[in-house]
Amino acid sequence: MGWGTEGPSVFGKLDLDYNTYLRIPDLLQLQHPLSDPPHHDEMLFIIIHQTYELWFKLILGEIEKSMLRMSEKRILPARNLLNRTVEILRLLVGQIHILETMTPQDFLQFRDGLFPASGFQSLQFRELEFLAGAKDERYLKHFEKDPVMYEALKKRQSEPDLRGAYYELLRNLGFPLPDNTERNHIENSESDREKLLMALRPIYSQSESHLPLYLLTESLIEFDEYLGLWRYHHVRVVERIIGYKRGSGGSSGVGYLLTTTDKRCFPSLWEVRTYLEKQT
Ligand code: HEM
Repeated sequence: MGWGTEGPSVFGKLDLDYNTYLRIPDLLQLQHPLSDPPHHDEMLFIIIHQTYELWFKLILGEIEKSMLRMSEKRILPARNLLNRTVEILRLLVGQIHILETMTPQDFLQFRDGLFPASGFQSLQFRELEFLAGAKDERYLKHFEKDPVMYEALKKRQSEPDLRGAYYELLRNLGFPLPDNTERNHIENSESDREKLLMALRPIYSQSESHLPLYLLTESLIEFDEYLGLWRYHHVRVVERIIGYKRGSGGSSGVGYLLTTTDKRCFPSLWEVRTYLEKQT
């Protein structure tokens, strides 16, 4: 028997259609170029930022759910959700290059009209960093003019993060972690750092006995790797389009962005590799 005509009435409401369900008319009304007459490339500029924000929204939700799974010691479901964020980040790295189809000269035709709006004001990007564990309170100042956004980021700052959730999972599984893993890696004492690295080692040296955990840990590293790659690709694209001009948010531009490319959410997971030994 084929699907016939009864299909839709069995699975959904008869009056529901693609455009209603996905709110396509609303979505397509949200792009408003400021240049007058509108510069052709401003639509690309708006849509690329909006799509990033949509994916950031999804990533935030997936990380939160993954942290919940970690708290339930459900390692593979936690890993699968993180893996989804890695695939999204992979896409986001590639997506930035679409902007290179816009020439530096074309961008200058509408850039002045965008000041002082800036990527610094992307709340969701900063939430993503904070939620992953890279909390830097200096970025709060970019949201001072908007109490709702400011409070949202402040909340992220005080709430548990992915790095903390992962270490809590390890503790619950009996790994001998020091107490201070939630704090900034650099701030931890030498002995705490050493204890942490020693505790993490078996995940790699005995990966087959810790398979789900090993896979989860690798997803965390991949998340960090792709976020770092996004930073790197973004700064190269910025340099290609505006050179060493100052940023619209007031930073030095490329110079500032280069200082961010080494940021890590899970520094110990990178560092532990240095302490692995050849197995006999
Ligand atoms: C023509 C394209 C672009 C240019 C010239 C550009 C330029 C810049 C510059 C100069 C900064 C440093 C902050 C400032 O002083 O304003 C910055 C930061 C940022 N941009 Fe872009 N950007 C572009 C596209 C994008 C896109 C497509 C996104 C996607 C969301 C994005 C997201 C961000 C974010 C999140 C930051 C903050 C980074 C951090 O502080 O670590 N940018 N951008």
